[in-house]
Amino acid sequence: MSYTLITGASTGIGEEFAREFARRGSDMVLVARSESRLRALGAELSPSGSPDIHICVEDLGDPESPGRIYEYCARKALRVELMVNCAGFGFAGDYASMPLDELQEMVQVNTAAMALLVRFFIPDMVAQKKGGIINISSVSGFQGVPFLGLYAATKSFIITLSESLHEELNDKGIKVVVVCPGYIETGFHTRARQYPEHSILPVSHPSVVVRAAIKGLLKNRLHVFPTVLDFLLVFLQRFLPKTIILKTAAFLAPLKYNGSVQEG
Ligand SMILES: NC(=O)c1ccc[n+]([C@@H]2O[C@H](COP(=O)([O-])OP(=O)(O)OC[C@H]3O[C@@H](n4cnc5c(N)ncnc54)[C@H](OP(=O)(O)O)[C@@H]3O)[C@@H](O)[C@H]2O)c1
Repeated sequence: MSYTLITGASTGIGEEFAREFARRGSDMVLVARSESRLRALGAELSPSGSPDIHICVEDLGDPESPGRIYEYCARKALRVELMVNCAGFGFAGDYASMPLDELQEMVQVNTAAMALLVRFFIPDMVAQKKGGIINISSVSGFQGVPFLGLYAATKSFIITLSESLHEELNDKGIKVVVVCPGYIETGFHTRARQYPEHSILPVSHPSVVVRAAIKGLLKNRLHVFPTVLDFLLVFLQRFLPKTIILKTAAFLAPLKYNGSVQEG
């Protein structure tokens, strides 16, 4: 049997992936820290035990966790044919005063854990000559974003690694897509201290991301932009100087800490 492994499956976009793959009858391994949420979701999506859903509680901020997730699947003989790397978080504010533990955790969760998980699981996909990887990045990965710089940099990392792997694994039967959404309605923004409701950009439902990602994977697209606006925000950069792009990025990402939105 083959499984779909989803990180960040407890809430938001990852949870929506789990719901969609359950509708499609996919067996799954759901990963996040919130054990009770994962267990409740697993019970809801598989009341009769089909599809087969496994809960793997891990903190991806721990550098050893990707190895443990791989061992968990190997021990239970769960052959992972599709990975959805969705776990991630943002943190807005002056870089000069960013808490060091937030900085380290973000680099670990958003970049290193994803890179390690992919490294652990692709040899088995290569051996099977079959597999898929969906990496969740963001439109913010295509340029710097003042006051959200480290997050934007982690999303650039995901784009660059995904692009390389797309080409490297293409003739080995493995599809790699990188999904680049704009604002999505999840708990992400509260955690990140962002205010999408103050932006002129629309906020989409997580299902928009999931539908676009699955369609993109089936068509083996490299970049997936869930909405036309997401595509345009990146495409139009070709015609603009970088300084204008950076000022626009700051304008489109109103934060509590850049003076563009009053607290409270
Ligand atoms: N929402 C947006 O506007 C937006 C736009 C573009 C891209 N994205 C990207 O979409 C992805 C999903 O975000 P979301 O919007 O769905 O936000 P979310 O609802 O806050 O979900 C984040 C998920 O990541 C998991 N996670 C966070 N830290 C973790 C850790 N240390 N170990 C294991 N799991 C961890 C969370 O689970 P636990 O807390 O249970 O561990 C949760 O399941 C992120 O990579 C984000 O960068 C979001």
